[in-house]
Amino acid sequence: MLTVTDLDLFYGDAQALDGVSITVAAGTTTAIVGANGAGKTSLIRTISGILKPARGRITFKGKDIAGLPSHVVCDLGLGQVAEGRQIFPTLSIRENLEMGAVIPRARAGAKDTFERVLALFPRLKERLEQAAGTLSGGEQQMLAIGRCLMGKPELIMFDEPSLGLSPAMVHELFRTIRNLAADGMTIILVEQNVAASLKLAQQAYVLENGRVVLSGTGEQLLADPAVKQAYLGL
Ligand SMILES: Nc1ncnc2c1ncn2[C@@H]1O[C@H](COP(=O)(O)OP(=O)(O)OP(=O)(O)O)[C@@H](O)[C@H]1O
Ligand SMILES: [Mg+2]
Repeated sequence: MLTVTDLDLFYGDAQALDGVSITVAAGTTTAIVGANGAGKTSLIRTISGILKPARGRITFKGKDIAGLPSHVVCDLGLGQVAEGRQIFPTLSIRENLEMGAVIPRARAGAKDTFERVLALFPRLKERLEQAAGTLSGGEQQMLAIGRCLMGKPELIMFDEPSLGLSPAMVHELFRTIRNLAADGMTIILVEQNVAASLKLAQQAYVLENGRVVLSGTGEQLLADPAVKQAYLGL
């Protein structure tokens, strides 16, 4: 569904991605693992069209999307739940969700999508008219996911969705991601909970200094001595 080939990204003179290639098959979960500053967020932001690559190809559903504006990429069905839940705190939960459906692909059937999202997150349903800023951190993350789903994505990229959540909320978040995967959603997952993300992932990549240094199935990486030592604390 998504193929990234030889991607280079620079911030000024500083190279953040160096020849990155990844493949994401439809209906699978792909984990991207790496230390702070490895380039995980840069990769997601380049795929989503927020950052422009210096070189390389990005193909989504057979279409070359490298360099397209982010709203166009989003309208092709490539959704993103950004680092640090970017919800609108003064708008209500209902309004935040409605913002997710402004892209053309989401307009038809937006009412049905809305009902499905509320069924997925009953806690949001009880608080629809409340300002989003009054939600707990975990609830705000649910809202961010709900808003993304309102755009009817075929592929969702999650960037550190569990950051700052309590253990109970992390548990619930992973259950939500597992349920989306079970429903056939294609997922790219960047997570500090490396073990949990590798357990979910059919395919995984390790990024170091902007380069893919290791790849394999989630299971293979979980068993890899270098991954164990660097990311699993074993
Ligand atoms: N806007 C920016 N301007 C300049 N350099 C940046 C910018 N954003 C990121 N970088 C640099 O690019 C590199 C990759 O950063 P990136 O945020 O992609 O890493 P990350 O793997 O997501 O890290 P983390 O786990 O801390 O979120 C880092 O060296 C970072 O300092
Ligand atoms: Mg990051």
